[in-house]
Amino acid sequence: MTVKVVGRENINQPLWLLAEVTYRCPLHCVFCYNPVDYAKQHEELDTKHWMRVLNEGRELGAAQLGISGGEPLLRNDLEDIVKEARSLGYYINLITSGIGLTEKRIENLKNAGLDHIQLSFQDSTKEMNDFLSSTKTFELKNKVADLIKKYDYPMVLNCVLHKLNIDHIREILDMAENMGAEYVELANTQFYSWASLNKKQLMPTKKQCNHAEAVAMEFRERLGNKMKIYFVMPDYYSKRPKKCMNGWGNVFITVQADGTVLPCHVAGMLPNIEFSNVKEKTLEWIWYDSPSFNLFRGDDWMKEPCKSCPEKEKDLGGCRCQAYMLAGDASLTDPICEKSPHHEIVRNVVRDAELLDANEKPIIFRTDSESRRLMGEKVNGKLNLEDRRLFEEEAIASAEKSRVGSV
Ligand code: FES
Repeated sequence: MTVKVVGRENINQPLWLLAEVTYRCPLHCVFCYNPVDYAKQHEELDTKHWMRVLNEGRELGAAQLGISGGEPLLRNDLEDIVKEARSLGYYINLITSGIGLTEKRIENLKNAGLDHIQLSFQDSTKEMNDFLSSTKTFELKNKVADLIKKYDYPMVLNCVLHKLNIDHIREILDMAENMGAEYVELANTQFYSWASLNKKQLMPTKKQCNHAEAVAMEFRERLGNKMKIYFVMPDYYSKRPKKCMNGWGNVFITVQADGTVLPCHVAGMLPNIEFSNVKEKTLEWIWYDSPSFNLFRGDDWMKEPCKSCPEKEKDLGGCRCQAYMLAGDASLTDPICEKSPHHEIVRNVVRDAELLDANEKPIIFRTDSESRRLMGEKVNGKLNLEDRRLFEEEAIASAEKSRVGSV
């Protein structure tokens, strides 16, 4: 497919810049969206490069900055990054597990100008929280929640939902209320990266989702604006796909730890696309002119049934990464859509969620050794089709050669 570079006049400015400043992390979450081959990506941009990224992002028009990882607190220069972002006028959100957020650190970050902290919990119980992250961090997170309040930040709690914790939704919301949370994000797992490897163990049933939604509604009605609740159903139970990232290269720009720039945080797994690096190109060129960012802009790239679909503007054909993972081609209709000829795959996953015992297969934790082991298995051809797609030679982003302009 030839990439048509859309004229600059037809391209929006990015609003969101996500800086994944490191892939190092003390936690080992089973649903982590970091690349499955992250253990290969040791390189991290230095402070000077991040300063340049922040400046270029702001010049491009980005106003919201998310700082995530891995665990961003593992970077000693986090305060410098925040300070620079503050001077440029970003609204700055730190997305953290809380591990490493000491009182000294939060005080420094406050002084540097950090606006917002989003703290993740894995569950309302110590046992499940610690199991899912393969750490003993539940009590520590509670202490961090106190610090966030003490330093007058809005309490923003994030808990990824899935089969193993979704039935605890009432307890999770009680915990959030007791902590004085202003916002709670209860997003069902998006099945990319590590979550995709663990899909059979993590996919909730329709009954579980409906129950969770009803409980979320009950809390919403009772608490109103006092505690805002965002509840997102898994798209596997939808008839139409989501307008992923609000469109490819439309609003979001992600810079990975090593400087690779992506239109969404998991696109690095897509084969036959060269994503540019900020060490070689400016963010402006990458956003407006790079073939990778223009690949799925507009609708010229669409195939049937999207091409002639009256709803194509609504969802833009869904998620490119999901289309690749489920149907093997990023330019196809997202199989979540009932009109997709591959929708059967989604129906099967949903059916299996009802049948399978979550403990049937060992769950895979996000660790360096698992990442390396899986890469080894990929070479020896032991993975199933979908898992293998996460590891295809071309999908291992870092060391690949240029194949710009074709998929
Ligand atoms: Fe990459 Fe949807 S997650 S386009």
